[in-house]
Amino acid sequence: MDEIANNCLRPPALEVEVHPLIAGRWSPRAFADKPVETEKLRSLFEAARWAPSSYNEQPWRFWVATREDPEALERLQSYLTEGNAWAKSAPVLVLSAYRTHRERDGRPNRVALRDLGAAEQNMAIQAFAMGLVMHQMEGFDRERAKRELLPEGFEPGTMSAIGYLADPETLPERLRERELRPRTRKPLGEIVFPLSGASPALAG
Ligand SMILES: Cc1cc2nc3c(=O)[nH]c(=O)nc-3n(C[C@H](O)[C@H](O)[C@H](O)COP(=O)(O)O)c2cc1C
Repeated sequence: MDEIANNCLRPPALEVEVHPLIAGRWSPRAFADKPVETEKLRSLFEAARWAPSSYNEQPWRFWVATREDPEALERLQSYLTEGNAWAKSAPVLVLSAYRTHRERDGRPNRVALRDLGAAEQNMAIQAFAMGLVMHQMEGFDRERAKRELLPEGFEPGTMSAIGYLADPETLPERLRERELRPRTRKPLGEIVFPLSGASPALAG
């Protein structure tokens, strides 16, 4: 649990207790100049592998580049938008994608992106449990990533920056302020609705 405590710079204001891994996970922008051990990286994809998916189709795929292969890492970095340039300090970048049609019958898989999201959340939680951090991004050149890297029948999902957390002081001013801002969420009352008065009042 020490790893979780060390990485949990921004504990949320919880309405109800949840597991420290869920409460503590967040999306930092400051990455330490330290590589990620291959075994830990493998654990992340093992975690992704065991996510639930519709018909167990497992439509998720991941393209990975680490600092050990600077050319590959630069290639993934080149897809990032200007707003996500901070992610260039991460020692690992991952491009995720999903299969658009089901393998079992060739029909469109309406929940493939949702299944990919579940796999990525498994990765983020596993990362946090091992003392790593992971930050997902939608801001990248999807068309170019698709054209240059993905096989036929796949659509890009997100890019993720993975690594060890660094001191927020290492960030430029504007990003440092965002890095330290309290994390917020909509209240339970805005997202959960009892169907009738006989249902328990879950929103408190
Ligand atoms: C699908 C997805 C796309 C995201 N895209 C970006 C992005 O392009 N740039 C960025 O800085 N953060 C991005 N984020 C991070 C969110 O801004 C962040 O998860 C949200 O503000 C909640 O903060 P927390 O993860 O620290 O709890 C993305 C998150 C998700 C799940």
